[in-house]
Amino acid sequence: MKQYLKLDEWSIIEEGFDSHSHEISESIFSIGNGYMGQRANFEEQYSGTSLQGSYMAGVYYPDKTRVGWWKNGYPEYFAKVLNSTNWIGIDVDIDGTPLDLSQCIVKDFVRELNMKEGVLSRSFTAVLEDGRELKVTSVRFVSIVRHEIGAIRYSITPMNFTGTITLTPYLDGDVKNKDSNYDEKFWLEVFKEAGKGNAALTVKTKKLDFHVTSVMTYEVSKNGEKLELGAEQIEKEKYVGNVVHVQAGEGEEITIFKYVANVTSRDHGLGQLVDKAREVLDQAVQAGFGELEREQKAAWGDKWKESDIVIEGDVAAQQAIRFNIFQLNQTYSGEDDRLNIGPKGFTGEKYGGSTYWDTEAYCLPFYLSTADASISRNLLIYRYKHLEKAKENAKKLGFTKGALYPMVTMNGEECHNEWEITFEEIHRNGAIAYAIYNYVNYTGDTSYLAQYGLEVLAEISRFWEQRVNYAASKDKYVMLGVTGPNEYENNVNNNWYTNRIASWTMEYTLEVLKELEQNQPERYAELVSKLKLKDEETAKWQDIISKMYYPEDAERGIFLQQDGFLDKELLPVKDLDPSHLPLNQKWSWDRILRSVYIKQADVLQGLFFLGDRYDLETKKRNFDFYEPFTVHESSLSPCVHSILACELGYQEKAYEMYLRTARLDLDNYNNDTEDGCHTTSMAGTWMSVVHGFGGLKVKDGALHLNPFIPGHWSSFSFKVMFRGARFNVKVTDQEVVILNETDIPAVLNVGGQEYSIEGMGEVRASRSVEVTS
Ligand code: BGC
Repeated sequence: MKQYLKLDEWSIIEEGFDSHSHEISESIFSIGNGYMGQRANFEEQYSGTSLQGSYMAGVYYPDKTRVGWWKNGYPEYFAKVLNSTNWIGIDVDIDGTPLDLSQCIVKDFVRELNMKEGVLSRSFTAVLEDGRELKVTSVRFVSIVRHEIGAIRYSITPMNFTGTITLTPYLDGDVKNKDSNYDEKFWLEVFKEAGKGNAALTVKTKKLDFHVTSVMTYEVSKNGEKLELGAEQIEKEKYVGNVVHVQAGEGEEITIFKYVANVTSRDHGLGQLVDKAREVLDQAVQAGFGELEREQKAAWGDKWKESDIVIEGDVAAQQAIRFNIFQLNQTYSGEDDRLNIGPKGFTGEKYGGSTYWDTEAYCLPFYLSTADASISRNLLIYRYKHLEKAKENAKKLGFTKGALYPMVTMNGEECHNEWEITFEEIHRNGAIAYAIYNYVNYTGDTSYLAQYGLEVLAEISRFWEQRVNYAASKDKYVMLGVTGPNEYENNVNNNWYTNRIASWTMEYTLEVLKELEQNQPERYAELVSKLKLKDEETAKWQDIISKMYYPEDAERGIFLQQDGFLDKELLPVKDLDPSHLPLNQKWSWDRILRSVYIKQADVLQGLFFLGDRYDLETKKRNFDFYEPFTVHESSLSPCVHSILACELGYQEKAYEMYLRTARLDLDNYNNDTEDGCHTTSMAGTWMSVVHGFGGLKVKDGALHLNPFIPGHWSSFSFKVMFRGARFNVKVTDQEVVILNETDIPAVLNVGGQEYSIEGMGEVRASRSVEVTS
């Protein structure tokens, strides 16, 4: 772990250039707008180690699976989000010497990601081999207002010489993915055109025919005065650019403004791509860099009004939580129900940018509380639209009906690349059902169930119905050969969590069916007919619910993670030689699988989801038993533990768990940030603060809070949107102050006591929970 970033409440700041941490910084300083995003690669050429990454949401490649031994049912491909046209490039040449930070002395280097305004900037002085010095500053952003637009301002000032600066702004589609299975490039050229002062490039993927068109234009100025310059055009394979020469005297600042529009065939017809890109580019250029930057700042200001968390008394914690919120807001903006949230967002290639259960289990709560309900609804609709594919997936695996959602997907098809682990993690079906419940419970939008939700629930229940089998010896239904959320066990029987979430899904489906029958008989009849739902099926679900087998240990009063769990050597993590950690890097897979060590919350995941069905004592016994064996080697793990620890009054543990993910990427805690940031687990960190320290729950249609404040924070506050209203909840040592920032009155519960809060009103509850106004 190396802490090299400066602490600041609103910015991530790197001072001094160290090529060894460059790839880590490329991940951390990534920028995005939900539609496109990129790692913080340099504009000018860089011959040092770097992972180039510029991604267009939803543009992916089905890379043929690479396995040693093919098995029936194996996915044909592993989808990967594509590194696409590098549109930021501006090569800089000083009288024949290229500017390359790995080939010169770099002084006064500062890189800053201003999260308040959504802008990435950099400044440095480069000393070339022959002693010439030049100062460079750059600012760039991808617009969250005009999502197809990116803009760069790049300035160069010769400090001790006069000479010719050659600038080459370009678009380069000849790029590759580091994770390509067969070391192939995935793009073909379709169209290119370099004009004077502009260029356009269309590339398409070798499979699936995604087209991406990028068009660029630029302006050059000297000391703020626009220059009229000639330009040479360059066209190479999948590459277009302009070459501009500028005479610069000592101390004269040469600035290039580069504007780019990136459009894709996901949104526009093939024949219109270039025109469309030129149209949006023209509008952006008309507005000008200053206006685009102003819009960007204002729009980010609005996002922060909805989602900020303020922590007083701990700058490291403040910076970290804002970084997490910023990354989540950059990754998913929720307008497009075909998009989702990859575990690394737009910050790297790992996990292929695909959708995992992370979205439903971890990310949904963040968007539920910090954005309009339509945004989370779109996350649900994404899965609704994949229902037919999930049904096909179940059929492929030999089921006669029902839906099995994929563990890893881009378009609804399964595309995981590890059979034993991800394939058997059928618990993801439960998380998808749970997300429907969570959404409806939070938003009160029951119309979703009749419109879309019930179909998904019924098909998932049908899957569970076939995936269990009746064990006569036990007179119970069992579920064999699964992998639970704890991926350090594969192919186990009766994973408590999976059995529990399966049975819960059937219960919830029956409940929704009943309510619909009572309240909307016509729609009920329509759906029963559409689903061809038979009474025998619902009766079977009922039978499974009543006879589901749950492994337990009566003596300890705990649920067993799976059959035979107690046969393991029960040595807690604290008694392991620390040099053995992390297990996934130090131990063989064989040793991990037979050990007691738990990668991430499993039984505890169930107690977290279904928390209202278990009493505190049960939660405590299970937490006390499982947490000591948990190595938290998934970044998704600590948050669930932190939230449960809060509920159990284990405040120190809660804070310790929170700290394990809060600065995970900023401090490169797991030594893997260079691959990209842990974007989906950032939502877990947010949950630790709001659901954990804030104690947020929704019960019977009302918001409940039960806050505590971690030791050395003097206060913290967070935003919660709930059923049209938005609250700012501030927690200090003495009191909880809730400000309603909207006109919508509400009733909420703080520490077990009910309060009415007027539109724009305020409620103050003392921490011993009394109303003071
Ligand atoms: C975790 C999974 C998760 C995946 C993607 C794995 O390490 O064990 O639960 O879905 O990462 O984030």
